[in-house]
Amino acid sequence: MTPKPDVPQQLAAPGHALDAALAHLDTRRSVPFMRLQEPAPDSATLLRLLASATRVPDHGIREPFRFVTLRGDARRVFGERLAARHREADADASESVIAKDLDRYLHAPLIVVLVAQLGPDPKIPEQERLLSAGCTGFALLQAAQAAGFGGCWLTGWAAYDRGVASMLGLEAHEHVIGFIHLGTPSQDIPGRRRPDPATLLSEWTP
Ligand SMILES: Cc1cc2nc3c(=O)[nH]c(=O)nc-3n(C[C@H](O)[C@H](O)[C@H](O)COP(=O)(O)O)c2cc1C
Repeated sequence: MTPKPDVPQQLAAPGHALDAALAHLDTRRSVPFMRLQEPAPDSATLLRLLASATRVPDHGIREPFRFVTLRGDARRVFGERLAARHREADADASESVIAKDLDRYLHAPLIVVLVAQLGPDPKIPEQERLLSAGCTGFALLQAAQAAGFGGCWLTGWAAYDRGVASMLGLEAHEHVIGFIHLGTPSQDIPGRRRPDPATLLSEWTP
């Protein structure tokens, strides 16, 4: 299943060498988690993908990121614990909301929890370290798609809850910045409107 490029019409120049060079960037798209099925990258393949995905701009070489995987039955248990935590935090949470907690991690065969390692640093602002960690999420999606897989980056309340963070073994300076759901797309995913860079670009003149 090869996605078609999603570049704005006026920039598409078929046959141009630059288009070929940018093809992986131009075809990246998310695959909804419910459309992801087996197989997912196995452990060795995931390590290979992460070798590419961690090659990000990183001021001061802080490596402010790490990754935690959820596979197999751990996904079900994680969903159950999230649901329990949700009920504990909000006794009025509806059954349909709780059902989403239980269901969300059961579709994609692999979920990579993207963790940013922040906290005080004598030199590099936290924002810069957060951006480096964020780059790895984008790059992991790119790498997975280049390897024939599909994925999507989700957050939701669980990404911002300290109870969930400790359930995942995170320390106080560590933050979940994404749940990257990975697997094989079960169907073609329609493209969507993409930004027109001409409307975003301006030249500063003194
Ligand atoms: C940090 C971050 C968190 C996101 N969280 C969610 C989410 O919780 N739910 C959701 O539907 N999309 C979320 N998205 C958006 C999707 O990952 C995806 O980018 C969007 O559906 C558009 O698809 P595209 O990647 O093909 O452009 C998030 C994106 C980012 C960068």
